Amino acid sequence: MENEQDVTRRDFLKTAAVAAAVSALPGVGAPAILANPSPNNVVNYGMIGTGTEGCTLLKFLATIPEGRCIATCDIYPPNLKKGVETIGSNPQTYDDYRRLLERKDLDAVMVVTPLNLHTQMVVDALSAGKHVFVEKTMYFKEEEEGQIRRAAQEHPQQALQVGLQRRSSVLYQVAMEMIRKGALGKVMFVRANWHRNSDWRRPVPDPKYERLINWRMYKEYSGGLLAELCSHQLDVANWAFGAEPISVVATGGIDYWKDGREVCDNAQTIYEYTGGRKFLWSGVLYNEHFQFQEEIMGDLGTLVITLGKGMFYRERVAKVSKAGLKENWWAGATVANAATQEGIPIFPERSARTETGFVDREILYAKRWLASLGIYKYEEAHDPWWSEMSNFLATIREGKPIIAPLEIGVADAQGVIYGNRAIETGQKVFWPKKQESEVRSQKTEEKPQASGV
Ligand SMILES: NC(=O)c1ccc[n+]([C@@H]2O[C@H](COP(=O)([O-])OP(=O)(O)OC[C@H]3O[C@@H](n4cnc5c(N)ncnc54)[C@H](O)[C@@H]3O)[C@@H](O)[C@H]2O)c1
Repeated sequence: MENEQDVTRRDFLKTAAVAAAVSALPGVGAPAILANPSPNNVVNYGMIGTGTEGCTLLKFLATIPEGRCIATCDIYPPNLKKGVETIGSNPQTYDDYRRLLERKDLDAVMVVTPLNLHTQMVVDALSAGKHVFVEKTMYFKEEEEGQIRRAAQEHPQQALQVGLQRRSSVLYQVAMEMIRKGALGKVMFVRANWHRNSDWRRPVPDPKYERLINWRMYKEYSGGLLAELCSHQLDVANWAFGAEPISVVATGGIDYWKDGREVCDNAQTIYEYTGGRKFLWSGVLYNEHFQFQEEIMGDLGTLVITLGKGMFYRERVAKVSKAGLKENWWAGATVANAATQEGIPIFPERSARTETGFVDREILYAKRWLASLGIYKYEEAHDPWWSEMSNFLATIREGKPIIAPLEIGVADAQGVIYGNRAIETGQKVFWPKKQESEVRSQKTEEKPQASGV
């Protein structure tokens, strides 16, 4: 029989099945005003780009009966075939997305192509009367913001959702609810990293496909590490702060993988927000020890989030937060000490094992504490990718608020573009028209909501 001492932190994380989430929280972002939303209608959709991410989404979509894939499009035949096999609904295939958009029986499309193609495809799809899901980063160049914005404004009855799937994750929603309820005190700093030890290249069967398959390596198509990886975590920082940055300093380079690539193999950025709040991001392709995580720091505590689990660490110092909240209330003093050093699992991985002793108690205290904040325990029933697709279909069918709407995508894309500009110029880059930016950030300062499941 296992006793308390046998339960190591690693076991604890593996075995503990605390899963917390918000219930019935207000909606996120701009409301979707759809012409004839109907929960009875199955959404006919088409997938444009059936590469790695397109097939990931199709894999989850195959289990969602509220939608039916009737068309797929890709210009690379092996990927087109892979997409058809993944969804298994016998969709009609296209090598020109404009032909796909001509179909009158198509309600929605997902744009999951290289970054440089997003804007034209989104604008064309909205103009063709389709609801649109577009992968992050929403757009490539600064001037494209206006094109997407105009198209969205001209088609207000159609949903436009950006593929930042953490917005659909119950774990991240709980984290944001903890912040909003003051559990972390005054949040001043977010630190995140995405570290890999790989060249980030994909195998190419024929050199003529190099640029098509390894588009990420070339500036003509790609915003590099910031567009592909930082974008997810910058969005988490924007969400945590309830704001957009006001400036960024950054550095990076092609310092390790000198293989003809045009984008950095490492990048370090510091985004600044009003009130001196900062987001420090690091991406490298030559060491994977720290992999990826976000650390959200307030004057009462720290949240460390990785995909699938979250830990809360209470600050040792007993004090009143600068935000005015008194020191955290804890259900048990013993646990409070443990939580200072070892943390409380807010959302660990699920496991078949039964919790015992110490683990049980810690979970119970975490539950009580979350309940005291008005946050309830919940399990992430689905992968966030599943939830974001489900949310997209629910917006179309039921008029549910768009989980990651235009403004969130714009704030994210702008941060990526300015971060890259700071690396390229070596200069600090400031957001233009701060007043407007502030107004927009207030709009995006929403409460997290439970995913539509
Ligand atoms: N949300 C996430 O976690 C996540 C993860 C990976 C990728 N992404 C995003 O998804 C997008 C695609 O990334 P990926 O890794 O799947 O790339 P990929 O290269 O694996 O897939 C892109 C596909 O688009 C196809 N394509 C290229 N030009 C086309 C055109 N004109 N018409 C139709 N198809 C065309 C390619 O042949 C390829 O099959 C990017 O924006 C990327 O940032 C998001």
